[in-house]
Amino acid sequence: MSLSALVLAAGEGTRMKSRRPKVMHTICGKTMISWVLDTLHELQDQGMIDAIRVVIGSGVEAVSQEIADRGSCIIQEERKGTGHAVMVAAPEIDEDELLVLTGDCPLIAAATISKLYDVHRMEGAAVTLLGTYLSDPTGYGRILRGEGGGILRIVEETEALPEELSIGEVNTSTYIFNWKALKPALNNLNADNSKGEYFLTDVLELLIKKGERVAAYITEDDVETLGINSREHLAMAEAVMRDRINSGWMERGVTMEDPSSVYIGAEVKIGMDTVLKPFVILEGKTRIGEECVIGPGARIRNSEIHDGVVIEQATVRECELEDGVTVGPYASLRPGSRLLAGSKVGTFVETKKTIVGKGSKVPHLSYMGDAEIGDGVNVGAGSITCNYDGAHKYATVIEEGAFIGSDTMFIAPVRIGKGAVTAAGSAISKDVPDGALGVERGEQKNIPGWKKKSKRREDKEDQS
Ligand code: UD1
Ligand code: CA
Repeated sequence: MSLSALVLAAGEGTRMKSRRPKVMHTICGKTMISWVLDTLHELQDQGMIDAIRVVIGSGVEAVSQEIADRGSCIIQEERKGTGHAVMVAAPEIDEDELLVLTGDCPLIAAATISKLYDVHRMEGAAVTLLGTYLSDPTGYGRILRGEGGGILRIVEETEALPEELSIGEVNTSTYIFNWKALKPALNNLNADNSKGEYFLTDVLELLIKKGERVAAYITEDDVETLGINSREHLAMAEAVMRDRINSGWMERGVTMEDPSSVYIGAEVKIGMDTVLKPFVILEGKTRIGEECVIGPGARIRNSEIHDGVVIEQATVRECELEDGVTVGPYASLRPGSRLLAGSKVGTFVETKKTIVGKGSKVPHLSYMGDAEIGDGVNVGAGSITCNYDGAHKYATVIEEGAFIGSDTMFIAPVRIGKGAVTAAGSAISKDVPDGALGVERGEQKNIPGWKKKSKRREDKEDQS
């Protein structure tokens, strides 16, 4: 027996009120369609499913790009309903059995689909649908059963009679069909309903009329079968997925003082004994090593954080931080910043495309852009690389062991040699050789008796 999967993902998602196709909306940083495809790939790896096909229609370019080689795309030019979507895919299908699921049901677990397949085979049914009970079934197709308890048909909410609306047993839109039974039934579907669509759900009644066996696996988990139709559903799914991700990392040895304020993207990896303090957001392909302390208040995107790193109140994007680095509080590390082992970027410091050498420190109030800072350098408070002349960006090189006086301006391009020193308050526009002192400042003038003179002026003003 061969089983293939067909994901229905062509709909516009009108209820999302979005320019983006529904399945391109993200949950914990991963698109809905990717969540579904990843689950199917898990089943493919277990040898349960062969081909994976996806029916797409709205936003074809973006969706097919997102799917890439993870499934073959079938285009449904005109969206005439879930039944029509399967009709469009029919010429491609030649497996014995077909798993149909929707692209807007991203929380479904591989284990639940396996269970559905077990029930399907045990029952020897022409179709087995995945159902669940909901205390609020609004929006879902209701499962109608006869007196003996057998399924009669599914009624869509828009077509239901008032008494049918109170039924809490619903269709989740995940089914396994015997393809030989489904294929001819598709031709008998009609669009005689208030939406003028071909409902896949109507196939069940057609099969029953032909004497085919229709079975159901009713799962108690009413969360994973959530179909996302609106932004509110999207937020619900996000909350569920966030809890799942956080629990997963806690199981693997990550401490979270307040998991409800920690947001971890689907593709993030975190090492053992790392502590995530409140208000931490980890996004994209971020990797965090072991024994780090992140937060309170940190947003880290697509970055490599090695072991024993401490980051407090900071934004870190596309950066690499080696072992034992300290960042913040209140630091912004912009793309291309590399902080080598044991270095420190402190309070109110911004870096961009900058290397901070081993053990080097930029502790306070600085901007380091397009800079290459060697090992063991100390950059005094308020120092700034003047890297942009309005047209081009220029590099600043500060070599090993240099000591940068507070408030040094580096008029780039400029090089500070090994062990060189810059005097506080200098605007350095010429290279400073190894071991030299670079000073650039006007001589200080002291005007004696200033306080007395100004006092006399004030007294005069008071009298007049
Ligand atoms: C559908 C089911 C309903 C079930 C619910 C579960 C039908 C008629 N109704 O309703 O019984 O309770 O899912 O979530 O099947 N799509 C296409 N092409 C189309 C129309 C839809 O590919 O022409 C895709 C959509 O992109 C979506 C999926 O099919 O991923 C379901 O469509 P949607 O409009 O969300 O159906 P529901 O009203 O939620
Ligand atoms: Ca839906």
